Amino acid sequence: MTIRHALRGTILRFHDNPFFTPAADAMHIEPDGLVVIADGHIETVGNYDDLRPNLDANISIADYRGCLIGPGFIDAHVHYPQLSVIASYGEQLLTWLERYVFPEERRFHDENYSAEIARKFLNELLRAGTTTAAVYCTVHPQSVEAFFRESAHRNTRMIAGKVLMDRNAPDDLRDTAQRGYDESRHLIDRWHRNGRQFYAVTPRFAPTSTEEQLTLAGALLDTAPDLFMQTHLLENRQEEAWVRQLFPARKGYLDVYDHANLVRPRSIFGHAVHVSEHDLGHCHDKGCTFAHCPTSNLFLGSGNFRLFDALRAERPVHVALGTDVGAGDTLSLLRVANEAYKVAQSTGHSLHPAQAYWLATTGGAQALHIDHLVGKIAPGMEADLCVLDPAATPILAQRTANAESYNDILFALMMLGDERSVRATYVNGCKIDF
Ligand code: GUN
Ligand code: ZN
Repeated sequence: MTIRHALRGTILRFHDNPFFTPAADAMHIEPDGLVVIADGHIETVGNYDDLRPNLDANISIADYRGCLIGPGFIDAHVHYPQLSVIASYGEQLLTWLERYVFPEERRFHDENYSAEIARKFLNELLRAGTTTAAVYCTVHPQSVEAFFRESAHRNTRMIAGKVLMDRNAPDDLRDTAQRGYDESRHLIDRWHRNGRQFYAVTPRFAPTSTEEQLTLAGALLDTAPDLFMQTHLLENRQEEAWVRQLFPARKGYLDVYDHANLVRPRSIFGHAVHVSEHDLGHCHDKGCTFAHCPTSNLFLGSGNFRLFDALRAERPVHVALGTDVGAGDTLSLLRVANEAYKVAQSTGHSLHPAQAYWLATTGGAQALHIDHLVGKIAPGMEADLCVLDPAATPILAQRTANAESYNDILFALMMLGDERSVRATYVNGCKIDF
């Protein structure tokens, strides 16, 4: 028997991409709306008064009047093993990896430790309203096993994979090209499209892989349909110079990945801060995706991603938002949107709240090619939802009390909000306790 339940509140949906139509008009708002959920999927959505008479008198309706109901947030770039080294002082990318990240990632050879951190990480992610993420594990297959097991237990839709590193990393964090291939292949068999889990082939970044390993990563992508690829690209100037030194035969950093057949749809490149115009055109042609990680780029002093350049209408590149914890200092995509706004301001553009919210939800799902599953409130979609409370804190309540529009409320949430503004998170139709 189908069990239905529903949520009542203000429903936010997009009927257009707010970067290519006037942003203020891109959202459809149902001030007193109802979302009806059946078997983990959205069955109907619309105006409360229109829908209520057709429903069973006893249906359970969660009352979120005064709150905004939208899709769960999508985090396109995050490292679960770095949860414990978030907010580590005083370094930029390469020395930060050596000093903080590699020592912590060593601990994930222990599957119990991996399971403990995976559990804590998923709790924090859901508390922040994020229901889907593209997640780096460590080089240890057991770190991947632990993560997927935790995700499957909660039935969250996650994308994750084993980090590949066969050089320029400590001995006990290196695999070999062949071992990385074999371990990834085994994990793909176990977890890719197992329930709601997707696998991402995950070479950490060009400096820690030989050309042989990158080539085998490209070969892995052809072994199953819908596999993802995730790595880092052009985050930091020293990193870029190092890649040029390590791969003198290649035309540049992006070409290293392209040569290995890694630049394609469902490939997610973290950062892309220092991309050239030529790179942007090539990424548009190849249909790959950038994860914009402003909190991380500011924290490590990496530079400013040129979002509006990347999205230029003549040759837009897919872009989603990423927290990049532990270089990012928050798992809240509201706080990421806050910093994305400030970074855009510094490059002469005002990121509209509808644009930021789109990147964190519907646009993020499109950029990851999962928009047929999540990222929208529409019949047939998986019921992953995030309910935001515009009066969650005294200052938010003060600021939104006389807000002039829903876009204004959304802007207040993106500038003043964080985990505290998440009133509820739903995964596959079930409310999460946190
Ligand atoms: N580049 C290679 N590894 C990493 C990582 O763990 N975090 C970030 N921000 N950049 C990287
Ligand atoms: Zn990263």
